[in-house]
Amino acid sequence: MKKKILITGGAGFIGSHVVREFVTKYNNYHIINLDALTYAGNLENLSDIQDLPNYTFVKADITDAAHIAAIFKEYQPDGVIHLAAESHVDRSITDPTAFVMTNVIGTVNLLNAARESWKDNYEGKRFHHVSTDEVYGTLGETGLFTEQTAYDPHSPYSASKASSDHFVRAYHDTFALPVVITNCSNNYGPNHFPEKLIPLCIHNILTNKPLPIYGDGKYTRDWLFVKDHAKAIDLVFHKGNNGESYNVGGFNEWQNIDLVKELCRQMDDKLGRPAGSSEQLITYVKDRPGHDLRYAIDATKINQALGYKPSVTFEEGLSLTIDWFLNNQQWLDNVTSGDYKNYYAKQYQ
Ligand code: NAD
Ligand code: DAU
Repeated sequence: MKKKILITGGAGFIGSHVVREFVTKYNNYHIINLDALTYAGNLENLSDIQDLPNYTFVKADITDAAHIAAIFKEYQPDGVIHLAAESHVDRSITDPTAFVMTNVIGTVNLLNAARESWKDNYEGKRFHHVSTDEVYGTLGETGLFTEQTAYDPHSPYSASKASSDHFVRAYHDTFALPVVITNCSNNYGPNHFPEKLIPLCIHNILTNKPLPIYGDGKYTRDWLFVKDHAKAIDLVFHKGNNGESYNVGGFNEWQNIDLVKELCRQMDDKLGRPAGSSEQLITYVKDRPGHDLRYAIDATKINQALGYKPSVTFEEGLSLTIDWFLNNQQWLDNVTSGDYKNYYAKQYQ
């Protein structure tokens, strides 16, 4: 009998890499990708694997409890890897309620459905909640987030993710639901939606538009190649301990301004433009309200307990990412037409 794994948010950026990793690596699994196909969900991300026999797509909204319960009845998944979420901090500032609905209520709906479906026997079952380092709040110029760092979210996005983490842990502590949580740092890579810093700048360099840098550009993030995140999820899903959290990061901190300059350098090189031309597009703009200064992950636990290490350096990962965008300009055109234009005009007016 094939194991059935329900992956939520599998049409999004990270979810599509997780779905591909599982579908291609585990012939003995049937992967069910549950996604509402919001603005961030795109089945084009999975066109290479959509016809494989161990893959099924189900369109559903995790805020719809009855539909989620029915899907659990129909497919009876043994495992859940939960990535569906509203994921962009700037959008959470303009519409916090959407983040409460999907990230909090949606997660609780999934927990209830898993609990009901697995109530007779938790053996071999697992609910893996994919979360973020933003739940820990902000660091000063030194220090790292560990699994023991107290939660201190500042944006509506991180508050909603923190809340969902607390619910997942509460279902473990109260109902013994077998859960694991991963808290990952900033991802980048193929299929990244161009509302986030790196793909937005790639798109703007290609179209000769300003590169908007919030505030003084000294904000710092710890960047991880998305395929390495997918591998970390695979490891924790299979080998993590129930009830535990694992931080995932790249030991790869960049100030935004330095990162964008490195991106400009590589793009000029690949596009055959004179060195320094893309940098001239850099434009400092109004800061993000509540902007966290610095995130940086201490990934010692996942490294020592599960032998996890990122496989590519940032320069390699960034180069692979730019190449993917250059080779997939139709994908970029498709996701930046329509609603994206309205979003961009409002956000960067
Ligand atoms: P994304 O925005 O690219 O994709 C989210 C996916 O969820 C989309 O396919 C969307 O259609 C789907 N979705 C949204 N609302 C839904 C709903 N109500 N019902 C069903 N599906 C819905 O997000 P991402 O960047 O791939 O992030 C995936 C997960 O990883 C999120 O939980 C996010 O918090 C977490 N995470 C992201 C990062 C990062 O750097 N992007 C880092 C750490 C953790
Ligand atoms: O840390 C993990 C988180 O990383 C994930 O949980 C989120 O889902 C993901 O969106 C990401 O959040 P950030 O807010 O860090 O990512 P973003 O790409 O939006 O911004 C990265 C940094 O760049 C941040 O300091 C804000 C800045 N920025 C962003 C945009 C979109 C700019 O300076 N200009 C911009 O136009």
